[in-house]
Amino acid sequence: MSRTGRGAVATAHSNIALIKYWGKRDARLAIPSTSSLSLTLDVFPTTTRVAFDDALETDTVQLDGAPMPPRAAARVSDFLDLVRERAGITTAARVVTENAVPTGAGLASSASGFAALAGAASTAAGLDLDTRELSRLARRGSGSASRSVFGGLVQWNAGTGDADSYAEPVPSGDLSLAMIVVVVNAAEKAVSSRDGMRRTVETSPFYEPWVSRSADDLAQMRRAIADADLASVCEIAESNAMGMHGTMLGARPPFSYWEPASLAVMGVVRALRDRGVVCGFTMDAGPNVKIICSPSDVATVTAALDDAVPGAERIVAGPGPGLLIREDAS
Ligand code: DP6
Repeated sequence: MSRTGRGAVATAHSNIALIKYWGKRDARLAIPSTSSLSLTLDVFPTTTRVAFDDALETDTVQLDGAPMPPRAAARVSDFLDLVRERAGITTAARVVTENAVPTGAGLASSASGFAALAGAASTAAGLDLDTRELSRLARRGSGSASRSVFGGLVQWNAGTGDADSYAEPVPSGDLSLAMIVVVVNAAEKAVSSRDGMRRTVETSPFYEPWVSRSADDLAQMRRAIADADLASVCEIAESNAMGMHGTMLGARPPFSYWEPASLAVMGVVRALRDRGVVCGFTMDAGPNVKIICSPSDVATVTAALDDAVPGAERIVAGPGPGLLIREDAS
């Protein structure tokens, strides 16, 4: 069966995990070893248009006005195959995607990308998926994308298979959070998160202890969120992230995403804490550091950064919206 239609457009935002996803139990289905919890941000959206078109022989994929590099485009096509299979069509698609990342901050994320693609492609294919099904579908593109389907605080339940591995919103109660992304280096990372986590799972003796600790971290994080206890949120997120980065040092060959400036930013956070400012940090598969604090302390934190790491670009973010899908009017 074929389908030529008007297409659909979807927007999704990046998310940063407070309890990390690092490692899969099933790579084909993208079932993680641990549940994770993140904040969807109000910055760095990806907007993607998808139209299936009988006139096309193969998928065409454009990123920020240029053809997407072949490896990334192949990953998009593989994802579209999942959508086509589910919709019972074989039609090729035109995909046009734009990442609103400020001044090449090196933070373009597969999370916002595959969440937006899941929304636009499934709608353009005539599927009418609810948010849970969209989260499960986005997960197949990139694990963290399962969380960008929802806004604010989000938990991805690891589950045991395709049906029960999905994200859902976490009530934030009275907790108010800001996240300051400190751009230490915007260049593309040498080890992708996908390759890094695979190497860690396969070779690091530090991995299993981190996994078994993670369930406790998540339970404590849920309690801290419910109690609007920002100091505990920061402490648990920081320990969980440091543990994840520790697993990489035990991998063969070992690797690390940290750069000298990353350590300088960590030092700023510790010094602020010593002064009584409630804050913490987290880091992902790259050298950039994300500082967690109260919105009312953003100015204090940025002033401290000005002194210690002058010139480092910073983006101040807050909780952002979930996936937005609309018919393509263009
Ligand atoms: C360090 O979702 O990019 O950011 O599922 O292989 O596409 P794949 O990996 P990805 O990994 C994200 C890892 C992380 C932690 C997190 O976001 O939880």
